[in-house]
Amino acid sequence: TSKQNLNCPIFLIGFMGSGKTTVGKKLSKASNLPFIDLDHLIVERSGMDISDYFSLHGEDSFRQFETNTLKTIPFNQGMIVSTGGGTPCFNENLQWMNERGITIYLQLPPKALLKRLSGKEIQNRPLLQGKSEDEILDFITKKLEERAGFYKKAKLTIDAHNTNPTQVLDLII
Ligand code: S3P
Repeated sequence: TSKQNLNCPIFLIGFMGSGKTTVGKKLSKASNLPFIDLDHLIVERSGMDISDYFSLHGEDSFRQFETNTLKTIPFNQGMIVSTGGGTPCFNENLQWMNERGITIYLQLPPKALLKRLSGKEIQNRPLLQGKSEDEILDFITKKLEERAGFYKKAKLTIDAHNTNPTQVLDLII
């Protein structure tokens, strides 16, 4: 496909496990626009993985680092950005993204998120570590309630329940 004529970023937002990275990569291919994963950028720039960052510096410091990293993303060119699950919920990052690009919320209910977050998906997600499956479901349910108010302010909401990444891509396009 030819490069899409877009002069701002598309920000994918949503809870851990909602498919932001997978869908983001697909959207990048389909649109021929570059892909940036915010978590990946944080790992690159901090020199440590997210779990190590959390245990070494704590969540508050992570949120500041995340915001600083977000703000280095060039916003005058087309690109696909997958954000972290908490990105839109701190430091007015959502407003920042809405003013500069197109935010898309990948919406899924807690049980569907839990299903996608089993096994190795927990490893580099400090907020889920050391919890039983019941505790994770409880955590997701509560956090999602807290965060829904932010997520729902995205410019577009995609109902990603009972879909695969290709279907989500089609919905976005
Ligand atoms: C977080 C989500 C993670 C990562 C960090 C915190 C969150 O990103 O930024 O572990 O607060 O929901 P993903 O949504 O890509 O897993």
